[in-house]
Amino acid sequence: MTQPRLTTASGIPAADHQNSLSAGPRGPLLLQDFQLIEKLQHFNRERIPERVVHAKGSGAYGTFTVTHDIRHFTKANLFGAIGRQTATFLRFSTVGGEKGSADTERDPRGFALRFYTEEGNWDLVGNNTPVFFIKDPIKFPDFIHTQKRLPDSNLKSANMMFDFWSRAPESLHQVTILFSDRGIPDGYRHMDGFGSHTYSLVNDAGERVYVKWHFKTRQGIRNLSSADAVRVAGTDPDHAQRDLFEAIAAGRFPQWEVKVQVATPRQLADWEARTGWNPFDLTKVWPHGDFPLLPVGVLELNRNPVNYHAEVEQAAFSPANVVPGMGYSPDKMLQGRLFAYHDAQLYRVGTNHQHLPVNAPRCPFHNHQRDGAMAIANGGAAPNYATIDAVGQGATGMGHGEPELPLSGNAGRFDYRGQEDDYTQPGNLFRLMSPQARQTLCDNLAGPLSQVTDEILERQLSQFDRADPDYGRGVRAALKRLGRNVD
Ligand code: HEM
Repeated sequence: MTQPRLTTASGIPAADHQNSLSAGPRGPLLLQDFQLIEKLQHFNRERIPERVVHAKGSGAYGTFTVTHDIRHFTKANLFGAIGRQTATFLRFSTVGGEKGSADTERDPRGFALRFYTEEGNWDLVGNNTPVFFIKDPIKFPDFIHTQKRLPDSNLKSANMMFDFWSRAPESLHQVTILFSDRGIPDGYRHMDGFGSHTYSLVNDAGERVYVKWHFKTRQGIRNLSSADAVRVAGTDPDHAQRDLFEAIAAGRFPQWEVKVQVATPRQLADWEARTGWNPFDLTKVWPHGDFPLLPVGVLELNRNPVNYHAEVEQAAFSPANVVPGMGYSPDKMLQGRLFAYHDAQLYRVGTNHQHLPVNAPRCPFHNHQRDGAMAIANGGAAPNYATIDAVGQGATGMGHGEPELPLSGNAGRFDYRGQEDDYTQPGNLFRLMSPQARQTLCDNLAGPLSQVTDEILERQLSQFDRADPDYGRGVRAALKRLGRNVD
C-alpha cells in the first residue's frame, strides 16, 4: 500500500514533519517555516468550549425500526409503516462533570437521540430518568451551579447541592432516584432512556394526543454500588465510553424497546382533577397504571463514530427539533429548553453548526439562512429571500399544521411553592422499594449529607419526613451510623 503524502492543510506537499526549518543545525528557527507555524497555530485552537452541562459523553449511530402502528396518533413520516427504518445518532453523557470527569459519578445520564427522518431531524433530548429536579427553567442555571464547583476553592460541595435541594421540594423525586440503587448506571447500555417531558403527537385529522417516550434496555438494568463506582473511577474512568465502543466494535449491538404513554387532553384534565398533579410538571411521572406503555419500535446502536470530535463533540441536539406530526406541550421546562440548546450551540460550535455532517438533515432542506463563519451548505445559487412556499403546511395553527392550542390566564409570575404536592410521588417511590433498596438509598444519602451544615441537614431531613416518615427515620439512622448527631 502506498503511504499517503504528508501535506499542509492546504494540500501542499510537506518537506518533513520531524525537523523545523532552522538557520544552521542549532537554529534559531526561521519565520518562513509556515509548516511549523500552521501546525502550532492549529494545535492552539483544537478545543471548542465544552458543553456547559453534559460535557462528558459517548455517541454512536444506529437504526430505529417501527414494530407497531401508531398512525392513529401521528402523521409523522417515520412511523408511516411497520418495518420502516430511520437512521439515528445517540449521545449519552453524565451531567455535572467536566469533559475529563469519570463516567461513574452519581449523576443522571443524558440520552440524546437524533432521528434523521425524511422530514428533518427529530431530536429527543432526554435522560435516564423520567423526572427532573426542577419545574421552572429560571432555576436551571442556579441548580447547575450547585452541581459544579465553589467560586473560591473550585471544589464540589455537598453543602451547595443540599442547600439548593432542601429549598426546592420539587427536587425530592429526582433526588430519591439519584441516590437510589439506580443512581450510578454500569455503563450506558444497561439503563433505560426517557424523553421525560410531555410532548404532542398529531394525526392526519389534526387531532392532538400528549405522550411521554420511554426506551427500555434489552441488555437488562445494571448499576454500580457507590463503592464500586469509586473503584472504577480510579481504575477505568472512561468505563462507559469503553463499554459502549467495544460492544459495538465487537458486533454486540445494544437495543432498546421504544414505547410511549399516550393521553388525550381530556384524559389528562380528568387525571389532574383526580390526582391534583399538573400533567406537564416535569417532576411528576404519569403512573403506568393510569397510562400504560404502548410498544412502538426498536432502537439499535450499530456503528461507532470514526472521529470523536467531529461527530460526538460537535453534535448539537435541540428539543426544539420536532417533525410534522409532533409538537411541544405547555411544560415550562420544555419551553425554556426550546430556546436554550440552539443558543448554546451558536456559541459552542458556531453559527453554521447545522452544516456539519452529524448535524445536517439527511433530507433536502431550503431556507434563507446564508453566510456566517464556516458556511458549507450555503444554499448555492438559490434565492436568499422569501420565495419558498410553505408547501403542504397549513397556514393556520402552530408549527406543522397542528391544531391550535387553547391558552388562558393572565400573564404573571406564579409562585407554586407550597401550592403543589411535591411529596406524594417521591413517597410512593420510597414505599415501592424493598427494605434493602430503602437502606441503600438512605446510606447513599447519608454520605454527602453527613458533610453539610446543621441548618441544611434539618431542612433536607424535613423533606424526607414529609414524603414518608420512614424515609426520614431511615436517613437519620444512616447518618448516626456515620457518627453524625441528628435528632
Ligand atoms: C430548563 C432546563 C434546561 C436547560 C436550560 C438546559 C440546557 C442545556 C444546555 C445549554 C445544554 C448544552 C447543549 C450543547 O451545548 O449542545 C444541555 C445539554 C443537555 N441537556 Fe439540558 N437543559 C435543561 C434541562 C434538561 C432536561 C430536563 C433534560 C432531560 C430530560 C436535559 C437533557 C440534556 C442532555 C441529554 C444534554 C446533552 C445533549 C448532548 O448529548 O449533546 N436537559 N442542556
